[in-house]
This record gives sequence, C-alpha cells and structure tokens, in this order.
Amino acid sequence: MICAVETSFDESGIALCDSSGRMQASLLSSQVELHAPYGGCVPELAARTHLSDLPQLWGKLDPALTGDLSHLGVTSGPGLPGCLLAGVNFCRGLAAHYDIPLYGLNHLQGHIFSPFMGTAETPGLGLAEITFPHVALLISGGHTELFLVRGIEDIALLGQTQDDAVGEMLDKVSAMLGLGYPGGASLEKLAREHPGMSDAADYAGEFELPVPMRSRKYGYKFSYSGLKTAVRNKIRNADDGAAYTEAQRASLVAALFSSVVESLWFKMERSVEEHAVQLITLSGGVAINGFIRTAFARRAAGLGVQLAVPQPRHCLDNAEMMAWLLRLKLEAGIAPLPFDARSNWVPGEAGWNV
Ligand code: KG4
Ligand code: ZN
Repeated sequence: MICAVETSFDESGIALCDSSGRMQASLLSSQVELHAPYGGCVPELAARTHLSDLPQLWGKLDPALTGDLSHLGVTSGPGLPGCLLAGVNFCRGLAAHYDIPLYGLNHLQGHIFSPFMGTAETPGLGLAEITFPHVALLISGGHTELFLVRGIEDIALLGQTQDDAVGEMLDKVSAMLGLGYPGGASLEKLAREHPGMSDAADYAGEFELPVPMRSRKYGYKFSYSGLKTAVRNKIRNADDGAAYTEAQRASLVAALFSSVVESLWFKMERSVEEHAVQLITLSGGVAINGFIRTAFARRAAGLGVQLAVPQPRHCLDNAEMMAWLLRLKLEAGIAPLPFDARSNWVPGEAGWNV
C-alpha cells in the first residue's frame, strides 16, 4: 500500500492507493472556515492546525490498510514553511515506526500528473499510457505555470506569472466585490448570471478589460496584477457614481473570465505550435472553472490536440494526487533521496530534481 501526506497550505490530507493506483482511502481536513474570518490563510494558524489534525486523521484510517504500508510520501515543497514541516516531521515519525522508505514529493508535480489519476474504481494511466511530451498548465491560488513535460522527472518550465497567480487575482477581486475567500467559485457563479455566458469567448457586454501579456514578445510570461488593478479601477469608478447593479457586477466578472481565458489560451496555443505536442493538460484549483474547461476543450479540438483535465475534486489540494505521483515514481523505479522541506521548489528551475 502506498501512502502520501499533504500539508503544503491549508488542507491536511492523507491518501492511500494500491500499486495499480486505485485509491483505497482519502481523508481531507479543510481549514477554509478557520481562515475565512481573516480573508486569507494565516500561516502560523495553518501550521498549528496541521499538527493537531494529522494524528486525528491517521487514527481514522482502517488498520488493515495502515498495517500493509510499503511506501510513504510527503509533500516537501513548495508551500508554507511551517505547514510543510508539520507534514514532513509527522511522516519521518511514521516512516521510522513502520520501517518503510519515505519520499519527499513536489506539490506542483502532483498537480501536473493529476489529470491521469486513478479513482477508487479505476487504476489510472500507467507511465507508458501517458503521452510525452505534453504541455501542462497549472493554475491555482499560488501558481500559474506552463510546463513542457517530457517524462515523470523530466519537466521544463516554459514560463510562470511575474506577479499574482490567477487564483490569487480571482481571490482578491472576490474580496473587492465582498464575495469572500476563496473567491473563484463565487465569481464563476456570479459570471454565469450574465446572459449568454456559456463560453467565456462569447462575452458581449459593456466592460472591456485588458488581456494580459497577449504579445509574442512576452514569451511564456504571465501577469495578473494589471488585470486586477483594471477591475479595481472599474469598481472604484462605480463607487464614485452610482454603484453597479447586480447585472453589471455579473457582466464585469464575465468580462474578467473572458480576459483570463484569452490570456491563458494565448500561451497554450503558442506552446502547442512550438513544441508540436499532441496532448495538453490543465490542473490546480482554477482548473475547476467551467469557462476555462469549455473554452480549452473547444479550442484544443480545433487544433487537433487532446485535452486532459483532472476531476474537479482533484483540482483543489488533496493527498490523492500525491499518492498517485508516488505510484508513478515507483513504476519508474525511482529510489527515495534524502530531503528537507523546500518552500520554493518549482519543477524545471535550476537544481529542482537533484
Ligand atoms: O490548487 P488550490 O487548492 O490551491 C493552491 O495550491 O494554490 O487552488 C485554490 C484556488 C483558489 O484561488 C480558488 O479561488 C480557485 O482555486 N478556484 C476557482 C474555482 N474554484 C476554486 N477559480 C475559478 N473558478 C472556480 N470555480
Ligand atoms: Zn495546489
């Protein structure tokens, strides 16, 4: 039995899968409500909560499963330092107790391979069934990165955001509109009220927002703080005069998703042309978004490439994707290496896989 523990941010997760990748158990303890009054995640509170939640979660696992452990993995980066340490220290104890090898796992690599995951019923794709190379777009609360994935450990970083991550920008816009944290899902719900918004490309309304970095001269760099400021200015202007109606708020957020889709697709399309890949993937919390999924599915079909996306529940942080990553590493014959928690650890950056 393969087990992984995930505590990089504000969710404590433990998952077990068998050697074929079938999920045998998955426990997740969310801290969203704990942090909501503060308008965002409070790192020290998150770290302390992991310390108390992990042993409680472990106690809920079926002893028949924990008695049969062969390999253990823990997210060792990137993430909040105190949160990573809580998970790593917990797992060092477990590995000694059960006398099994412990792997330090990269959270972003977990997201990257999440589109190919198994479930309780299905085993997921074996390494030989995953198309390499492919291009992976990771969009979450902390990350916006485009990767060229040549193999399980052979990952090149094509580009990343220069400032805000997409999800971070959405969460900030949500706060501006008084819709709470995290905000992506509430914003999507509001945008769907705008007439005709089944596909973000169809936006027709009164708001015009910039499409960030839509020029080949920026290469694969992303940026979302300018778009956030553009939205803030529109909201401020409305506050100076008469505040927006609910329909105008929906229209503004619909325009925002339209800009987000265009900016993400611009880079994706370019990478498909440049690297002649047959497969593209989406992952991370923002990949739950229906506008992005629909637009990417339609446009990928137009380009003649396949699109793979994780199930919505596997887009948000979870331990299943980490257990799944470890399962792929074992299939590749990768041995455990000594490791420490690394708060900054992006696949493809110099020295990431040493
Ligand atoms: O992957 P994740 O759990 O966290 C990180 O690893 O960073 O992603 C959380 C992010 C938040 O920014 C949240 O607002 C966003 O995913 N999100 C969405 C939707 N649901 C969650 N963004 C857009 N549309 C959604 N439906
Ligand atoms: Zn994540």
